[in-house]
Amino acid sequence: IPVDDFDLVIFGATGDLAHRKILPGLYRRFEAGQIPASSRIIGAARTEQDDAAFRDEAFRAICDHSSVDKDNPQLQEFLGLLGYVAIDARGEGGWQALKDRMRPGAVHAFYFSVAPALFGDIAERLAGHGIAHDDSRIVVEKPFGRDRASARALNATLAKHFHEDQIYRIDHYLGKETVQNLMAVRFANVLFEPLWNAQFIDHVQITVAETVGVAGRGSYYDKSGAIRDMVQNHMMQLLCLIAMEPPYHFDPDAVRDEKLKVIRALQPVEPADIVRGQYTGEGSDYLTDAEDPASRTESYVAMKVRISNWRWQGTPFYLRTGKKLRARTSEIAITFKEPPHSIFDDSGVPKANELVIRLQPNEGMNLKVMIKEPGPGGMRLVQVPLDMSFADALGADGADMPDAYERLIMDVIRGNQTLFMRGDEVEAAWAWTDPIIEAWEDGKRRPEPYDSGSSGPDEALRLMHRDNRRWREIR
Ligand code: BG6
Repeated sequence: IPVDDFDLVIFGATGDLAHRKILPGLYRRFEAGQIPASSRIIGAARTEQDDAAFRDEAFRAICDHSSVDKDNPQLQEFLGLLGYVAIDARGEGGWQALKDRMRPGAVHAFYFSVAPALFGDIAERLAGHGIAHDDSRIVVEKPFGRDRASARALNATLAKHFHEDQIYRIDHYLGKETVQNLMAVRFANVLFEPLWNAQFIDHVQITVAETVGVAGRGSYYDKSGAIRDMVQNHMMQLLCLIAMEPPYHFDPDAVRDEKLKVIRALQPVEPADIVRGQYTGEGSDYLTDAEDPASRTESYVAMKVRISNWRWQGTPFYLRTGKKLRARTSEIAITFKEPPHSIFDDSGVPKANELVIRLQPNEGMNLKVMIKEPGPGGMRLVQVPLDMSFADALGADGADMPDAYERLIMDVIRGNQTLFMRGDEVEAAWAWTDPIIEAWEDGKRRPEPYDSGSSGPDEALRLMHRDNRRWREIR
């Protein structure tokens, strides 16, 4: 379904995110017939260039970062929607030119794909020059602050010029098809929800493992580390979607209210329940990639998280994420409790059911159930998978799944905030991670080294063994 006619301004249009995600994503939506041909996409950045030069730049970016057919006439049509205005976020030049380009009557959206230090300047000038109005939307990228105080300050800055329902804070994990599917699985089936609690679930494991390191973005990453870069946002969003109560409706505030309640119910993490790691190895060493030979920043973190509410009392959530691990895999594994009693004597002990939701790659679900081993040998139990991959079930191969950014940008134009973080949610998430980060920064310990290409530090295994549990293999 096409969205309404819009003018989208991308601040930071010559930057990496615009090249890799925003422009290719917009083109794919245009190809899919979702963007009206009357819409305008206006690049804004400091570089002095004209519309034609920006179109060339966008053409190269789209070809380099997506598998498009360069000769598809639609690509030229799409480039025709693009324009460019040179703007200095901290100066006054260019703003009037931008104002002149905005068409009355179209949906107006402003994408702040710039350093957060510029958010305030841009918001102020959009308002001061009368470019933004009450219906305009702004899109802001992570990192949204580096602690609660800075997130609060950013929220306050934006709030001077925009209402909360105009602000779209992106966490691209929420735009992933499989992440949205978590809500469908939970709330569109009767099968799971009655068992979705501490009475039946032993524990939950959330893994986001990456094979890439931080080379090339070491200067950003070294100031963040895995907790700020992945846990405070993506991992916590996944945790919320698994742990939240059913919202009364699939509506932005109803969903975000329930997520916020989960964040507020998180217990502080004990130092003994967290393991930090740093990858090391010949030719693939964090300390070289980060350009600080003494860095104590973690490229891996594993932690045990407890949620203090009726539903989850006694069921731990184990989170782990890291760079330079053995395989790229993101998944959520829910291990149910063992049956309370076995009627089968020595013919095999029933094992706990397990539901694994694979977020990427090979998106799908796997439910492990016990059955009788076929054959005449009597009642022998065996665990088998009920395996479903989206590609097989729906004929959707990875290439056809819209990228998270495509979905999210279209939601901005539609005015749907369900998959965006609300200001209070972001602040609450920082309020939980702040003490974890402070305790670490005050200490003198170094992260545990782990070999590049491994499953992470051994200490993370111990975190599980201590509780008589084990991590699923990363593969
Ligand atoms: C980003 C982080 O937000 O998410 C990166 O800054 C990380 O460090 C990336 O690599 C992971 O996203 P995806 O979509 O590749 O799983």
